[in-house]
Amino acid sequence: MEKTLKYLDEHSERFLQELFDLLRIPSVSADPAHAGDVKRAAEWIADNMRAIGVDGVEVIPTDGHPIVYGEKITDPAAPTVLVYGHYDVQPPDPLDLWDSPPFEPVIRKTDIHPEGAIFARGACDDKGQMFLHLKAFEAMSKSGELPCNVKFMIEGEEEVGSDHLGLFCEQNREKLKCDVVLISDTSIFSNETPTITTGLRGLSYVEVEVTGPNKDLHSGVYGGAVANPINVLARMIASLHDEKRRITIPGFYDKVEIVSEEERKLLNSVPFDIEAYKKDLGVDALEGEEGYTPIEQTSIRPTLDVNGIWGGYIGEGAKTVLPSKAFAKISMRLVPHQTSDEITELFKKHFERIAPPSVKVTVRPHHGGEPAVTPIDTPEYKAGEQAMEKTFGKKPLPLRSGGSIPIVALFEKVLGAKSILLGFGLDSDAIHSPNEHFGLFNFKIGLKTIPWYHHFYRELKK
Ligand code: BES
Ligand code: MN
Ligand code: MN
Repeated sequence: MEKTLKYLDEHSERFLQELFDLLRIPSVSADPAHAGDVKRAAEWIADNMRAIGVDGVEVIPTDGHPIVYGEKITDPAAPTVLVYGHYDVQPPDPLDLWDSPPFEPVIRKTDIHPEGAIFARGACDDKGQMFLHLKAFEAMSKSGELPCNVKFMIEGEEEVGSDHLGLFCEQNREKLKCDVVLISDTSIFSNETPTITTGLRGLSYVEVEVTGPNKDLHSGVYGGAVANPINVLARMIASLHDEKRRITIPGFYDKVEIVSEEERKLLNSVPFDIEAYKKDLGVDALEGEEGYTPIEQTSIRPTLDVNGIWGGYIGEGAKTVLPSKAFAKISMRLVPHQTSDEITELFKKHFERIAPPSVKVTVRPHHGGEPAVTPIDTPEYKAGEQAMEKTFGKKPLPLRSGGSIPIVALFEKVLGAKSILLGFGLDSDAIHSPNEHFGLFNFKIGLKTIPWYHHFYRELKK
């Protein structure tokens, strides 16, 4: 490990420059106009893999964006780590809220990152974090200290639901065979309190359309007698939570896992500072399901949120109109043992049932995903614990996250492999938002923690 750590130190400046090159490619998977850029990012990663000595590097086309695959099998008797990550990014909008252009990476200091942070779309989610694995591999490989076999599978469609990755896994079970899937695409609690993510929420995402009259109407001439679909949609949405902020869809909570008091205690043992949390977000009060702490509300409890709502006139000035249609995009974060198909169906039935006869509603399901949890009494988890303890100087706590990486549940189902979510970002790094960033501290500690993971995993599997 000594040579590896020395190599990392000596080359860290170049690593940053390389990452900047990758961050300059606007690989926005949701936007067809950027399909060429997405492909260019895939090629960039493949080239980088070849340069660092990964074997069998391929850019594999799918019906969507390509998957980059490569591997290094050094010892068939050694355990195999499959590294998963994604090189696609969220759209950078709204552009005017960025302090520097999203695809021109720069380093700036912040209160939370006094050492500096890399600002760019994808800096944290997930180019910056995925890249750590390439460079950790480079360091281990060039130092002749590669304890495990390594396989890389880096996809370009995570941010749009990983639509083609499931099929790829099913068709390539043998190729992807591994002992553990290692992923850096989540956060730690804070730089002082390292954590390993032991749970991800599932997702059910729907779009609703509410239609009133068959055309836009004069809101004076017709207003008062004819249902306004925006008013109706607002009323329907408001009814989806009760006064305890529980979701009112019948059957919604039926299968929700009852988390043990012991695990709840463990989850709440991180030093969560509610005042700092509110201050960071600029809110005077929080609002969540009664009976649960914010940590629990964002990890072990399911939610329902409107992500966007539109209809009618939203241009300059005032136009008096009673619109024909109203729309909303609604997501539900799911916890074990809810399933996205079931919840989507419950939502659809309920939403159609509560619609007044004055409107028609259509519910269109989007992508979904299942929740995932990781046990902590396994060599896979313990290797992460020991690795972080080495680099952070503190044993990490297990913490469930509120975000979703739907493919994790699929890895378990299709490959029979558990994932270890060894992320290094912070929740405050503004992923999916303007001014996304990744701390230099986090970048550097991630680079060091990954080789230790490989080291301890090999030891623990002996
Ligand atoms: N890396 C995130 C998920 C994440 C972020 C998990 C922080 C834990 C902590 C991932 O790229 C993501 O954004 N997932 C989407 C779901 C996907 C289907 C679009 C999400 O959670 O909204
Ligand atoms: Mn991600
Ligand atoms: Mn994301």
